[in-house]
Amino acid sequence: MAEQTKLLEIKDLKKYFTVKKSGFNKKQMVQAVDGVSMDIFKGETLGLVGESGCGKTTLGRTIIRLYEPTSGKIVYDGKTIFDSEQNIAEKMLPYRRKMQIIFQDPSASLDPRMTVGEIVGEALDIHKLYTGKGERTARINELLEKVGLNTEHSNRFPHEFSGGQQQRIGIARALAVEPEFIVCDEPISALDVSIQSQVVNMLEDLQDQLGLTYLFIAHDISVVRHISNRIGVMYLGNLVELAESYELYKNPIHPYTKTLMSAVPIPDPVVTRARERMILEGDIPSPINPPSGCKFHTRCPYATERCKQEVPVFKDYGSGHFAACHLLDK
Ligand SMILES: Nc1ncnc2c1ncn2[C@@H]1O[C@H](COP(=O)(O)OP(=O)(O)O)[C@@H](O)[C@H]1O
Ligand code: SF4
Ligand SMILES: [Mg+2]
Repeated sequence: MAEQTKLLEIKDLKKYFTVKKSGFNKKQMVQAVDGVSMDIFKGETLGLVGESGCGKTTLGRTIIRLYEPTSGKIVYDGKTIFDSEQNIAEKMLPYRRKMQIIFQDPSASLDPRMTVGEIVGEALDIHKLYTGKGERTARINELLEKVGLNTEHSNRFPHEFSGGQQQRIGIARALAVEPEFIVCDEPISALDVSIQSQVVNMLEDLQDQLGLTYLFIAHDISVVRHISNRIGVMYLGNLVELAESYELYKNPIHPYTKTLMSAVPIPDPVVTRARERMILEGDIPSPINPPSGCKFHTRCPYATERCKQEVPVFKDYGSGHFAACHLLDK
Protein backbone atom coordinates (compact mmCIF):
# COMPACT_ATOMS: atom_id res chain seq x y z
CA MET A 1 0.00 0.00 0.00
CA ALA A 2 1.62 3.24 -1.13
CA GLU A 3 -0.63 5.59 0.76
CA GLN A 4 -1.63 5.39 4.41
CA THR A 5 -4.11 8.23 4.61
CA LYS A 6 -7.01 7.52 6.94
CA LEU A 7 -10.37 7.53 5.22
CA LEU A 8 -12.22 6.38 8.35
CA GLU A 9 -11.35 6.58 12.03
CA ILE A 10 -13.56 4.52 14.27
CA LYS A 11 -13.29 4.92 18.04
CA ASP A 12 -14.95 2.70 20.65
CA LEU A 13 -17.98 2.16 18.40
CA LYS A 14 -20.93 0.38 20.00
CA LYS A 15 -24.23 -0.82 18.65
CA TYR A 16 -26.66 -2.42 21.09
CA PHE A 17 -30.10 -3.64 20.04
CA THR A 18 -32.97 -3.73 22.49
CA VAL A 19 -34.93 -6.96 22.35
CA LYS A 20 -37.82 -8.34 24.39
CA LYS A 21 -37.21 -11.50 26.32
CA SER A 22 -39.87 -14.04 25.37
CA GLY A 23 -42.38 -14.81 28.11
CA PHE A 24 -41.36 -11.78 30.13
CA ASN A 25 -41.88 -8.15 29.48
CA LYS A 26 -38.26 -7.49 30.29
CA LYS A 27 -36.07 -5.76 27.77
CA GLN A 28 -32.57 -6.96 27.08
CA MET A 29 -29.62 -5.59 25.19
CA VAL A 30 -27.89 -7.43 22.38
CA GLN A 31 -24.35 -6.12 22.51
CA ALA A 32 -23.80 -6.72 18.79
CA VAL A 33 -20.86 -4.32 18.45
CA ASP A 34 -19.20 -3.61 21.77
CA GLY A 35 -16.43 -1.05 21.44
CA VAL A 36 -14.58 -1.37 18.13
CA SER A 37 -11.68 0.97 17.32
CA MET A 38 -9.84 0.93 14.00
CA ASP A 39 -8.72 3.04 11.06
CA ILE A 40 -9.50 2.28 7.43
CA PHE A 41 -6.94 3.63 4.97
CA LYS A 42 -7.76 5.20 1.60
CA GLY A 43 -7.62 2.69 -1.23
CA GLU A 44 -7.24 -0.40 0.94
CA THR A 45 -9.35 -3.51 1.30
CA LEU A 46 -9.84 -4.27 4.96
CA GLY A 47 -11.11 -7.81 5.37
CA LEU A 48 -13.36 -8.56 8.35
CA VAL A 49 -13.90 -12.12 9.50
CA GLY A 50 -15.42 -14.01 12.41
CA GLU A 51 -18.08 -16.61 13.19
CA SER A 52 -21.70 -16.00 12.30
CA GLY A 53 -23.36 -13.65 14.79
CA CYS A 54 -20.13 -11.97 15.97
CA GLY A 55 -21.28 -8.55 14.72
CA LYS A 56 -19.69 -8.13 11.29
CA THR A 57 -22.85 -6.96 9.52
CA THR A 58 -23.82 -4.71 12.43
CA LEU A 59 -20.36 -3.13 12.45
CA GLY A 60 -20.42 -2.53 8.67
CA ARG A 61 -23.88 -0.98 8.81
CA THR A 62 -23.10 1.12 11.88
CA ILE A 63 -19.93 2.55 10.34
CA ILE A 64 -21.98 3.95 7.45
CA ARG A 65 -24.80 4.79 9.89
CA LEU A 66 -27.44 2.64 8.30
CA TYR A 67 -27.74 1.75 11.97
CA GLU A 68 -27.43 4.65 14.38
CA PRO A 69 -24.51 3.94 16.74
CA THR A 70 -25.25 3.49 20.45
CA SER A 71 -22.01 5.32 21.26
CA GLY A 72 -18.53 6.03 19.99
CA LYS A 73 -17.00 8.17 17.30
CA ILE A 74 -16.76 8.02 13.50
CA VAL A 75 -14.51 10.36 11.53
CA TYR A 76 -14.84 10.28 7.75
CA ASP A 77 -12.06 11.89 5.72
CA GLY A 78 -11.14 14.18 8.60
CA LYS A 79 -14.73 15.17 9.42
CA THR A 80 -16.46 13.90 12.56
CA ILE A 81 -19.80 12.52 11.40
CA PHE A 82 -20.72 10.95 14.72
CA ASP A 83 -19.47 11.49 18.27
CA SER A 84 -21.68 10.47 21.18
CA GLU A 85 -19.55 12.39 23.71
CA GLN A 86 -19.84 15.67 21.86
CA ASN A 87 -23.38 15.08 20.65
CA ILE A 88 -22.36 15.22 17.00
CA ALA A 89 -24.57 13.38 14.52
CA GLU A 90 -24.11 14.88 11.05
CA LYS A 91 -26.92 14.62 8.51
CA MET A 92 -26.04 11.63 6.40
CA LEU A 93 -27.41 12.49 2.95
CA PRO A 94 -24.12 13.96 1.66
CA TYR A 95 -22.24 10.97 3.10
CA ARG A 96 -24.64 8.42 1.60
CA ARG A 97 -23.02 9.33 -1.70
CA LYS A 98 -19.58 8.59 -0.38
CA MET A 99 -20.37 5.45 1.61
CA GLN A 100 -22.28 2.57 0.06
CA ILE A 101 -23.02 -1.07 0.83
CA ILE A 102 -23.33 -4.26 -1.16
CA PHE A 103 -25.57 -6.76 0.61
CA GLN A 104 -25.12 -10.44 1.26
CA ASP A 105 -28.38 -11.57 -0.30
CA PRO A 106 -28.82 -9.83 -3.65
CA SER A 107 -32.39 -11.05 -4.26
CA ALA A 108 -33.61 -9.69 -0.92
CA SER A 109 -31.87 -6.35 -1.40
CA LEU A 110 -33.49 -5.55 -4.77
CA ASP A 111 -37.10 -4.33 -4.92
CA PRO A 112 -38.93 -6.97 -7.00
CA ARG A 113 -41.40 -4.38 -8.36
CA MET A 114 -38.74 -2.13 -9.84
CA THR A 115 -36.91 -2.66 -13.12
CA VAL A 116 -33.13 -2.76 -13.13
CA GLY A 117 -33.10 0.69 -14.72
CA GLU A 118 -35.33 2.06 -11.97
CA ILE A 119 -33.21 0.47 -9.24
CA VAL A 120 -29.99 1.98 -10.55
CA GLY A 121 -31.70 5.24 -11.57
CA GLU A 122 -33.25 5.75 -8.14
CA ALA A 123 -29.83 6.38 -6.61
CA LEU A 124 -29.12 8.95 -9.33
CA ASP A 125 -32.49 10.63 -8.62
CA ILE A 126 -31.97 10.88 -4.84
CA HIS A 127 -28.66 12.64 -5.30
CA LYS A 128 -29.67 14.57 -8.48
CA LEU A 129 -26.71 13.27 -10.43
CA TYR A 130 -27.82 14.21 -13.98
CA THR A 131 -29.24 17.18 -15.84
CA GLY A 132 -31.64 15.63 -18.35
CA LYS A 133 -33.39 12.34 -19.12
CA GLY A 134 -30.83 11.50 -21.82
CA GLU A 135 -27.97 11.86 -19.38
CA ARG A 136 -29.80 9.73 -16.82
CA THR A 137 -30.31 6.89 -19.32
CA ALA A 138 -26.72 7.13 -20.53
CA ARG A 139 -25.48 6.93 -16.95
CA ILE A 140 -27.63 3.85 -16.18
CA ASN A 141 -26.35 2.14 -19.33
CA GLU A 142 -22.76 2.97 -18.50
CA LEU A 143 -23.17 1.51 -15.00
CA LEU A 144 -24.74 -1.70 -16.30
CA GLU A 145 -21.86 -2.15 -18.73
CA LYS A 146 -19.36 -1.47 -15.99
CA VAL A 147 -20.65 -4.45 -14.01
CA GLY A 148 -20.84 -6.73 -17.04
CA LEU A 149 -24.58 -6.48 -17.79
CA ASN A 150 -26.25 -5.39 -21.06
CA THR A 151 -28.09 -2.13 -21.56
CA GLU A 152 -31.15 -4.20 -22.65
CA HIS A 153 -31.29 -5.55 -19.10
CA SER A 154 -32.52 -2.15 -17.97
CA ASN A 155 -36.21 -2.92 -18.55
CA ARG A 156 -36.21 -6.29 -16.85
CA PHE A 157 -37.06 -7.20 -13.27
CA PRO A 158 -34.65 -8.69 -10.68
CA HIS A 159 -36.29 -12.14 -10.67
CA GLU A 160 -35.35 -12.58 -14.32
CA PHE A 161 -31.68 -12.73 -13.37
CA SER A 162 -29.35 -15.29 -11.81
CA GLY A 163 -27.88 -14.71 -8.34
CA GLY A 164 -24.59 -13.52 -9.80
CA GLN A 165 -26.36 -11.08 -12.13
CA GLN A 166 -28.51 -9.82 -9.25
CA GLN A 167 -25.36 -9.11 -7.27
CA ARG A 168 -24.02 -7.20 -10.30
CA ILE A 169 -27.21 -5.08 -10.21
CA GLY A 170 -26.59 -4.42 -6.51
CA ILE A 171 -23.03 -3.37 -7.33
CA ALA A 172 -24.22 -1.06 -10.14
CA ARG A 173 -26.67 0.55 -7.68
CA ALA A 174 -23.87 1.09 -5.15
CA LEU A 175 -21.58 2.58 -7.83
CA ALA A 176 -24.26 4.90 -9.23
CA VAL A 177 -23.50 7.62 -6.68
CA GLU A 178 -19.72 7.46 -7.27
CA PRO A 179 -18.87 6.36 -3.74
CA GLU A 180 -15.42 6.34 -2.15
CA PHE A 181 -16.05 3.65 0.45
CA ILE A 182 -18.06 0.44 0.07
CA VAL A 183 -19.00 -2.08 2.74
CA CYS A 184 -19.04 -5.40 0.90
CA ASP A 185 -21.08 -7.56 3.29
CA GLU A 186 -20.35 -11.16 2.31
CA PRO A 187 -21.13 -10.26 -1.32
CA ILE A 188 -20.37 -13.73 -2.65
CA SER A 189 -21.61 -16.00 0.17
CA ALA A 190 -25.04 -16.46 -1.41
CA LEU A 191 -23.64 -17.08 -4.90
CA ASP A 192 -22.84 -20.26 -6.74
CA VAL A 193 -19.21 -21.30 -6.13
CA SER A 194 -18.52 -21.23 -9.87
CA ILE A 195 -19.22 -17.51 -10.16
CA GLN A 196 -17.83 -16.32 -6.82
CA SER A 197 -14.38 -15.56 -8.20
CA GLN A 198 -15.86 -13.64 -11.17
CA VAL A 199 -17.62 -11.29 -8.79
CA VAL A 200 -14.56 -10.92 -6.56
CA ASN A 201 -12.36 -10.19 -9.60
CA MET A 202 -14.84 -7.61 -10.79
CA LEU A 203 -14.87 -5.90 -7.39
CA GLU A 204 -11.07 -5.80 -7.48
CA ASP A 205 -11.02 -4.32 -11.00
CA LEU A 206 -13.58 -1.70 -10.00
CA GLN A 207 -11.48 -0.82 -6.97
CA ASP A 208 -8.44 -0.21 -9.20
CA GLN A 209 -10.39 1.78 -11.79
CA LEU A 210 -12.28 3.94 -9.32
CA GLY A 211 -9.86 4.17 -6.39
CA LEU A 212 -12.37 2.61 -3.98
CA THR A 213 -11.84 1.65 -0.35
CA TYR A 214 -13.50 -1.57 0.81
CA LEU A 215 -14.52 -3.07 4.12
CA PHE A 216 -14.86 -6.64 2.88
CA ILE A 217 -16.80 -8.90 5.25
CA ALA A 218 -16.47 -12.66 4.95
CA HIS A 219 -17.42 -15.63 7.04
CA ASP A 220 -14.24 -17.41 6.09
CA ILE A 221 -10.69 -16.11 6.22
CA SER A 222 -9.72 -17.89 2.99
CA VAL A 223 -12.12 -15.68 1.01
CA VAL A 224 -10.51 -12.40 2.07
CA ARG A 225 -6.91 -13.52 2.38
CA HIS A 226 -5.94 -12.76 -1.21
CA ILE A 227 -7.87 -9.56 -1.69
CA SER A 228 -7.28 -7.82 1.64
CA ASN A 229 -4.40 -5.51 2.52
CA ARG A 230 -5.25 -6.03 6.17
CA ILE A 231 -7.63 -8.35 8.01
CA GLY A 232 -9.56 -7.79 11.22
CA VAL A 233 -10.92 -10.67 13.29
CA MET A 234 -14.08 -10.22 15.36
CA TYR A 235 -15.32 -12.19 18.33
CA LEU A 236 -18.61 -11.43 20.13
CA GLY A 237 -18.78 -7.76 19.15
CA ASN A 238 -15.08 -6.97 19.53
CA LEU A 239 -12.06 -6.86 17.28
CA VAL A 240 -9.58 -9.30 18.77
CA GLU A 241 -6.82 -9.00 16.17
CA LEU A 242 -5.97 -6.80 13.17
CA ALA A 243 -2.87 -6.98 10.99
CA GLU A 244 -1.52 -6.93 7.45
CA SER A 245 -3.00 -9.86 5.60
CA TYR A 246 0.14 -11.99 5.22
CA GLU A 247 1.32 -11.15 8.72
CA LEU A 248 -2.00 -12.32 10.19
CA TYR A 249 -1.84 -15.45 8.13
CA LYS A 250 1.79 -16.20 8.93
CA ASN A 251 1.88 -15.04 12.51
CA PRO A 252 -1.52 -14.90 14.24
CA ILE A 253 -1.00 -13.88 17.89
CA HIS A 254 -4.49 -14.04 19.40
CA PRO A 255 -5.66 -17.50 20.53
CA TYR A 256 -8.98 -17.08 18.71
CA THR A 257 -7.29 -16.20 15.40
CA LYS A 258 -4.97 -19.16 15.87
CA THR A 259 -7.92 -21.50 16.15
CA LEU A 260 -9.56 -19.97 13.07
CA MET A 261 -6.30 -20.28 11.16
CA SER A 262 -5.62 -23.84 12.14
CA ALA A 263 -8.82 -24.77 10.29
CA VAL A 264 -7.57 -23.22 7.04
CA PRO A 265 -5.58 -25.51 4.74
CA ILE A 266 -2.23 -23.91 3.91
CA PRO A 267 -0.16 -24.52 0.82
CA ASP A 268 2.85 -22.75 2.40
CA PRO A 269 5.20 -25.26 4.17
CA VAL A 270 6.95 -22.56 6.24
CA VAL A 271 3.64 -21.37 7.64
CA THR A 272 2.44 -24.95 8.21
CA ARG A 273 5.47 -25.80 10.30
CA ALA A 274 5.17 -22.70 12.44
CA ARG A 275 1.54 -23.31 13.17
CA GLU A 276 0.14 -25.40 15.97
CA ARG A 277 -3.09 -27.28 15.50
CA MET A 278 -5.92 -25.96 17.68
CA ILE A 279 -9.53 -26.95 17.89
CA LEU A 280 -12.18 -24.50 19.00
CA GLU A 281 -14.58 -26.05 21.47
CA GLY A 282 -18.01 -24.93 22.60
CA ASP A 283 -20.53 -22.58 21.07
CA ILE A 284 -20.18 -18.86 20.72
CA PRO A 285 -21.80 -17.32 23.86
CA SER A 286 -24.79 -15.01 23.58
CA PRO A 287 -24.12 -11.30 23.01
CA ILE A 288 -27.03 -10.61 25.41
CA ASN A 289 -25.04 -11.81 28.39
CA PRO A 290 -21.46 -12.00 27.19
CA PRO A 291 -18.74 -13.51 29.42
CA SER A 292 -16.92 -11.13 31.77
CA GLY A 293 -13.33 -10.00 31.23
CA CYS A 294 -12.04 -11.39 27.96
CA LYS A 295 -15.17 -12.60 26.18
CA PHE A 296 -13.18 -15.49 24.71
CA HIS A 297 -12.27 -16.93 28.13
CA THR A 298 -15.03 -19.58 28.06
CA ARG A 299 -13.44 -21.17 24.98
CA CYS A 300 -9.79 -20.20 25.27
CA PRO A 301 -7.30 -22.98 26.06
CA TYR A 302 -4.98 -20.44 27.76
CA ALA A 303 -7.56 -18.67 29.93
CA THR A 304 -6.45 -17.73 33.46
CA GLU A 305 -8.21 -16.13 36.42
CA ARG A 306 -7.17 -12.70 35.17
CA CYS A 307 -8.94 -13.34 31.83
CA LYS A 308 -12.26 -13.77 33.66
CA GLN A 309 -11.89 -10.48 35.50
CA GLU A 310 -10.09 -8.06 33.25
CA VAL A 311 -10.94 -6.91 29.73
CA PRO A 312 -7.78 -7.08 27.59
CA VAL A 313 -6.88 -3.86 25.77
CA PHE A 314 -6.74 -3.89 21.97
CA LYS A 315 -3.29 -2.51 21.20
CA ASP A 316 -0.46 -2.43 18.69
CA TYR A 317 2.18 -5.12 19.26
CA GLY A 318 4.41 -3.74 16.49
CA SER A 319 4.06 -2.52 12.89
CA GLY A 320 0.30 -2.20 13.14
CA HIS A 321 -0.28 -5.73 14.40
CA PHE A 322 -3.10 -5.17 16.89
CA ALA A 323 -4.53 -7.70 19.33
CA ALA A 324 -6.39 -7.91 22.64
CA CYS A 325 -5.03 -10.67 24.89
CA HIS A 326 -3.43 -10.72 28.35
CA LEU A 327 -0.98 -13.43 27.26
CA LEU A 328 0.77 -10.95 25.00
CA ASP A 329 1.71 -8.65 27.88
CA LYS A 330 3.97 -11.15 29.58
N1 LIG B 1 -31.80 -5.72 14.16
C1 LIG B 1 -31.38 -6.51 15.15
N2 LIG B 1 -32.09 -6.62 16.31
C2 LIG B 1 -31.65 -7.40 17.32
N3 LIG B 1 -30.53 -8.14 17.28
C3 LIG B 1 -29.79 -8.08 16.15
C4 LIG B 1 -30.18 -7.28 15.03
N4 LIG B 1 -29.24 -7.42 14.05
C5 LIG B 1 -28.32 -8.28 14.53
N5 LIG B 1 -28.66 -8.68 15.80
C6 LIG B 1 -27.89 -9.58 16.65
O1 LIG B 1 -26.59 -9.02 16.79
C7 LIG B 1 -25.59 -10.04 16.75
C8 LIG B 1 -24.64 -9.74 15.60
O2 LIG B 1 -25.30 -9.96 14.38
P1 LIG B 1 -24.65 -9.67 12.97
O3 LIG B 1 -24.05 -8.31 12.98
O4 LIG B 1 -25.67 -9.94 11.93
O5 LIG B 1 -23.49 -10.76 12.91
P2 LIG B 1 -22.68 -11.35 11.66
O6 LIG B 1 -22.87 -10.45 10.50
O7 LIG B 1 -21.26 -11.41 12.15
O8 LIG B 1 -23.23 -12.73 11.44
C9 LIG B 1 -26.33 -11.34 16.63
O9 LIG B 1 -26.50 -11.88 17.92
C10 LIG B 1 -27.66 -10.94 16.03
O10 LIG B 1 -28.66 -11.84 16.40
S1 SF4 C 1 -7.08 -12.74 27.33
FE1 SF4 C 1 -7.04 -14.76 28.21
S2 SF4 C 1 -8.97 -15.75 27.58
FE2 SF4 C 1 -8.63 -13.95 26.30
S3 SF4 C 1 -7.62 -14.74 24.51
FE3 SF4 C 1 -6.01 -14.06 25.88
S4 SF4 C 1 -5.47 -15.87 27.10
FE4 SF4 C 1 -7.40 -16.31 26.09
MG1 LIG D 1 -23.55 -10.85 8.56
